[in-house]
Amino acid sequence: MSSVNDWAGPNPVKDNRSGLIGKGVDRYEGPLKVTGTAPYAYEVQPPSPPAYGVMVGATVATGRITGVDIAEAEAAPGVLLVWTHRNVPAQPAKGTRKHPRSTAGSKPALESDRVAYFGQPVALVVADTLENATAAARLVRLTYDAASPDVDFAARKAGAGQPPGEEDVEIGNFGEGFAASAVQLDETWTTPIQNHCQMEPCASLAWWEGDRCIAHTSIQMVKPAQHGLAETLGIDRDDVRLMTRYIGGGFGGKGQTYDDLTLAALAARALGRPVKVAFTRQQMMHGTIHRPATVQRVRLGADRDGRLNAFSLMTWTHCHRDGAFTEHASNFARTLYAAPNRLTGHRLVKLDLPGAGPMRAPGEASGTLSLECAMDELAERLGLDPVELRIRNEPPVDPENGRPFSQRQLVRCLKEGAQLFGWDRRLPTPGQVRDGRWLVGYGMAAAIRGNFLLPAKCSFSVDDDGVITVRQGMTDIGTGTYTVLAQIAAETLGVPLGQVRVEIGDSELPPAPGSGGQFGAATAGSAALMAGMNLRKAIAELATGDAESPLHGGDPAKIVFQDGVVGIENRSETLAGLIRRAAPGGLTVEGEIRPASDMREWSQQTYGAHFCEVGVDPVTGEVRVRRMLGVFAAGRIINAKTARSQLTGGMIWGAASALTEGNPVDPRYGSLLGQDLAQYLVPVQADIGEVEAIMLDEVDDKANPMGIKGVGELGNSGSGAAVANAIYNACGVRVREYPITPDKLLAGLIARGL
Ligand code: MOS
Repeated sequence: MSSVNDWAGPNPVKDNRSGLIGKGVDRYEGPLKVTGTAPYAYEVQPPSPPAYGVMVGATVATGRITGVDIAEAEAAPGVLLVWTHRNVPAQPAKGTRKHPRSTAGSKPALESDRVAYFGQPVALVVADTLENATAAARLVRLTYDAASPDVDFAARKAGAGQPPGEEDVEIGNFGEGFAASAVQLDETWTTPIQNHCQMEPCASLAWWEGDRCIAHTSIQMVKPAQHGLAETLGIDRDDVRLMTRYIGGGFGGKGQTYDDLTLAALAARALGRPVKVAFTRQQMMHGTIHRPATVQRVRLGADRDGRLNAFSLMTWTHCHRDGAFTEHASNFARTLYAAPNRLTGHRLVKLDLPGAGPMRAPGEASGTLSLECAMDELAERLGLDPVELRIRNEPPVDPENGRPFSQRQLVRCLKEGAQLFGWDRRLPTPGQVRDGRWLVGYGMAAAIRGNFLLPAKCSFSVDDDGVITVRQGMTDIGTGTYTVLAQIAAETLGVPLGQVRVEIGDSELPPAPGSGGQFGAATAGSAALMAGMNLRKAIAELATGDAESPLHGGDPAKIVFQDGVVGIENRSETLAGLIRRAAPGGLTVEGEIRPASDMREWSQQTYGAHFCEVGVDPVTGEVRVRRMLGVFAAGRIINAKTARSQLTGGMIWGAASALTEGNPVDPRYGSLLGQDLAQYLVPVQADIGEVEAIMLDEVDDKANPMGIKGVGELGNSGSGAAVANAIYNACGVRVREYPITPDKLLAGLIARGL
């Protein structure tokens, strides 16, 4: 076992002899994905022909199922079973943990007549083909005793309470500080419900081998899925093998399992054959979680030089009636800028909507949409450049808790970004620049997102051919996990990339926390480095202790691994030759990482600065994102290509949050209006012009043995605000209700006489 602060000795990731670390290496699984041969959960070949399950969603948001008629569905062609709450197999009550160390409790499906949200799966039809199951699902007739859903966030906001276990954080005296400030800003922003819209909807395939359930599903975290399924099935955790080899996007929406997994496993057991169950694109909108809407009030008080004296971000948000998830949109604000008087907190309303949950950069993605626009507005009131305003409020230590920053290069990001973008060409007065019919403007915003390290294990094997196999119960949700693990292995053992195999996404493998909170690469990679170092040690001891090795008698600490050869000074042999002779069949060792006990003595974040150029058509209110530039400081970068993809993907999400994304609630049904990708608008290629992400050289020695941090969410923090600020600079219209759609902009444009 190793943790950050007991790490000593050679560090191949830092030495980077082969130059593989930081290189833009192609994706390990890229050829499989681009040829359509990477088996996603629904496409895995089961041992015998599968049956197909289709779920039926509730058409009311709250109430009880009073009538069930499944006769016609049962009689339909190819139908093998039809389940509702009346005949589904018994499952332990929700949240049951028979095993005390289970990382998730039971998640029963169809378990009662109670309907708790629109679209809740209330019936399952399994048939011999997907088409037969889909057709029969339409013949399931349910009647409801439905109450009128309480979904009006705006009306309930006034009565919202603090989230469970949470207090507001006040430092100094905000009220007095604000009142005494020479320049004040007090504005409110709103953000809508957002859906994750992963390319691959949630899907599962399960079969049984005797008493053992084998399940493939699309999930970000392996262990909680395995444990939760075992608890739901009422079986031992070792009797569930859960795999998630390829995942078509997660974004937080696959941090938990849904009824597809439970129902596939139950139906496979009942039918004695493999069963596949998937959400349709339409079912994803209600049947899985979403990012909740927010109302955010920002109050900033500054002196005439732009130094913040009082600073507040208060967030109202909502969650499901039975839930407590909170969109922590105010949290990041506690660390971003200095101010002696500070107030931040959250208010939560429970509504009859589907479950709210985390979505890429939970908190920051929503919160920067208000605060980073408020800073822009304050800069204008002060007559200051918005970059300069941020630099003037740069805190020397974490302003909330006084902890030193492990690394903080926000100012460098701001300055380098401004220079690369050509920020000095920006005219501070809005509406001054035209390009044909377009009004053109520049905007910027800061980016921040936390950095985390969690406990993880990993194993490394070397075989008779000198091939290194990395095994870890980690996931790759499209982020590049396979690839960065391969790079770390190749660098650590001195073998070419083509001589590394990576096996992840399986509950049988050494446990890792999975993908979320942008902790994946740091956590999984650190455990891999530890495993690699342990394998180096084992190989060094093997070689120096083997009378037949040219390395015999050498100092194991002096061993060098390079190009598939192990050597000490001028003596060497191939890794494959050594293993074949001295350890036939190969060697396997484990490694482990744990956060150091003093890790929280530092304030650890990743930072960035976004710059954006937009065009606004004053006649139609159409906005075109012409240029986006992000400059980021996120520790050492392992793979320039996959990291860049993560960052630009996040930046585009920001543009989407500013301009198109959002799902309005239909108060009559407690449903979301956007039910597919024709109605819920995610950006396509034509919506986004030039996008560039620059990564500064940085090594954060406090973060983990590799000095790396995360980039999966950072790009999505602040990028929407940069777009909104650019719109204002282009045309002088501030829209504080996201998304900034043409109808809202037009109202402002007309009012300005443009
Ligand atoms: Mo992420 S939204 O923390 O999976």
